[in-house]
Amino acid sequence: MNSIAIIVLAAGKGTRMRSAAPKVLHRAAGRSLLGHVLNAAAALQPTRAIVVNGPGQADVADEALRHLPAATIVTQEERLGTGHAVSIALPGLKKFSGTVMVLYGDTPLLSADTLKALAAQVNAKTPFAVLGFEAENPTGYGRLLRSAAGNLTGIREELDASKKEKSIRLCNSGVIALDAGLLAQLLPLVGNKNAKGEYYLTDLVALAVKAKKRVALSICPEDEVLGVNTRAQLSEVETRMQQRLRGLAMEGGATLVSPESVFFCADTVVGADVVIEPHVVFGPQVVIGDNVVIRAFSHIEGAHISAGATIGPFARLRPGAEIGPDAHIGNFVEIKKARVESGAKVNHLSYIGDARVGAKANIGAGTITCNYDGFNKHLTDIGAGAFIGSNSSLVAPVSIGDGAYVGSGSVITMDVPENALALERSKQTIRDGWAARFRALRQAVKAKTR
Ligand code: UD1
Ligand code: MG
Repeated sequence: MNSIAIIVLAAGKGTRMRSAAPKVLHRAAGRSLLGHVLNAAAALQPTRAIVVNGPGQADVADEALRHLPAATIVTQEERLGTGHAVSIALPGLKKFSGTVMVLYGDTPLLSADTLKALAAQVNAKTPFAVLGFEAENPTGYGRLLRSAAGNLTGIREELDASKKEKSIRLCNSGVIALDAGLLAQLLPLVGNKNAKGEYYLTDLVALAVKAKKRVALSICPEDEVLGVNTRAQLSEVETRMQQRLRGLAMEGGATLVSPESVFFCADTVVGADVVIEPHVVFGPQVVIGDNVVIRAFSHIEGAHISAGATIGPFARLRPGAEIGPDAHIGNFVEIKKARVESGAKVNHLSYIGDARVGAKANIGAGTITCNYDGFNKHLTDIGAGAFIGSNSSLVAPVSIGDGAYVGSGSVITMDVPENALALERSKQTIRDGWAARFRALRQAVKAKTR
């Protein structure tokens, strides 16, 4: 196959989103729209990648480089249309010969296979290929115009389309692949005499046909090319992406009791024989080992969960949570930047942050690691087999030795040696008969004041 260069357009402001943030930074399944497009395009192993950014959008450039460090970022100072945007990228293609693929940063459902198939259509005889789809509702998309023989003859944008053209359901996905030389030859010919007064990239098709070049059409399913221009479309993309991710998790051997209520991140890694109960939400960077059970209503991000562990119901794992094999994290427990080692249990109502919980340690209900002094975070180290009584506060920095006991209700501020008992609470007193005397007294007073 020809070597491939990609150009990703991400300069648009996305006014229809009504957002202070650039459109391509909005997220679906926890990943930016741009991130999705770049991940799919990276599978083509492009020898060059150029991202066209808008002015003052440093965050878009950062996001592009995070996903594709080899990319070149160019800035389109004035947003004069998709054709103009590509012309800004052209200098980056000097001395490149091969196929150029142009993608829009707002079509995040594209799959690598679809892009590869499109690129494979470009050859010496057919130097241009367009990715199209049959739209259920074509409103807003460019329509693909064909000759009586069925060959592509042009693309008509919605605003410029006649009533008859508007009835066409075959639409432009926005992805095109064409010979680099042909692109350089045709792009300067694109004008802006249209309803929007913009330089439309889509005009290349009619120009190619005029230059007697063959333009191939590749069709893909609509749900791969949904463009995000509005919040409603963003939610539609989210829905489809979640369907896809749930399907992949189940194919990989996970049971989803109620798939439609589980929300994955694009990068969630799910092992085999995992059970995920209803209403679980995953943020970025979660890896779930085999045989893990995630019980209902848990929220999990930046966490690594080893084989056999049980999480939830109602658990919250935050970034840096490292849950060891067969560990138990129970209801209303929050774990942040902490390693809970093999077989340890934190079963009820706890906050464990900036900590290590040794193997088989048992953390009683309501235990809190007091990790923050208002200025800095400090570490709590709990040894293997330690037992922390319920409702204890461990004021960091502090360490509890292997096998040590902490009495319930203690506020621990000093290190506890291994196998010791630490108690920090006032001594209990008993007054025999006190309650009965107290009640009698109060009742008498109340009767008098009536
Ligand atoms: C575009 C296509 C339309 C297609 C649809 C698919 C054109 C003229 N129309 O319309 O045929 O059906 O996508 O989703 O191409 N951008 C720039 N600079 C600009 C303008 C846009 O970088 O000056 C970027 C945007 O950030 C976006 C992409 O190009 O990522 C597409 O722009 P958008 O305004 O969303 O075009 P559509 O109206 O969706
Ligand atoms: Mg669009």
